[in-house]
Amino acid sequence: MSNKFISAAPSHIAIIMDGNGRWAQQRFLPRAVGHHAGVKSVRRIVEFCADDPNCNVLTLFAFSSENWRRPASEVKLLMNLFMKTLQSEIDKLHKNNIRLRFIGDRTAFNEQLQQKMFEGEEKTKNNTALTLVIAANYGGRWDISQACKTISQRVAAGELSPCAINETVINEHLCLADLPDPDLFIRTGGERRVSNFMLWQLAYTEFYFTSTLWPDFNKLSLQDAITDFKSRQRRFGHTGEQIAELATS
Ligand code: IPE
Ligand code: IPE
Ligand code: MG
Repeated sequence: MSNKFISAAPSHIAIIMDGNGRWAQQRFLPRAVGHHAGVKSVRRIVEFCADDPNCNVLTLFAFSSENWRRPASEVKLLMNLFMKTLQSEIDKLHKNNIRLRFIGDRTAFNEQLQQKMFEGEEKTKNNTALTLVIAANYGGRWDISQACKTISQRVAAGELSPCAINETVINEHLCLADLPDPDLFIRTGGERRVSNFMLWQLAYTEFYFTSTLWPDFNKLSLQDAITDFKSRQRRFGHTGEQIAELATS
């Protein structure tokens, strides 16, 4: 394959961090141990992305709007781990010039956690090495629904004409309106599904599935995913020839 067919490195990487529970179960350990090991993986991957000059945004799916269906004890554990991790990591993220951002319906979290999330965003808002987006109580359908609600309110208030609603307007009301769509989507843990993650934004994202469980996912695993991504030709509806021509013009 000639160079002109090679995709540029991904600027926005989005990851479904799956497989913590199975990682622990394989070791005859409680699922909690897998979630703790998963946090270590998060540190490694954030560090890799902050050091990679091509990577500007990393979005991590930490807790889905459906994860409340888990046993209450696991939900409680995940909330505590979320709080503990924010307490220990916000200063480090700030020192490393990383901007922290949360997407999802945070009103379901307790006051202290909401406060910590706000604190983390405020403290790091001017950082430039990497934007780290944590999806917490996030669902793609929730995101689209909340956008529809705001748009309808604007229509009802006479601020917006129904005829003016188009893809750009919808996009402007979604959680990641100010950030580019993901270039590379990775799901660890072997499942090949989207599980309600970034449904709108994944329209032209390249998908990469690996059976590696999240706690085992390391910098080399991410490098492999990026190498695979770079070997692909993204066409966005064009023909391969058109893309090749564009690359040389
Ligand atoms: C992903 O790992 C972490 C969260 C959903 C919070 P899982 O907990 O889903 O791990 P498996 O899929 O059961 O192995
Ligand atoms: C998706 O993983 C959500 C997160 C990684 C936070 P799940 O493990 O919850 O997904 P399903 O239930 O297997 O689809
Ligand atoms: Mg899972």
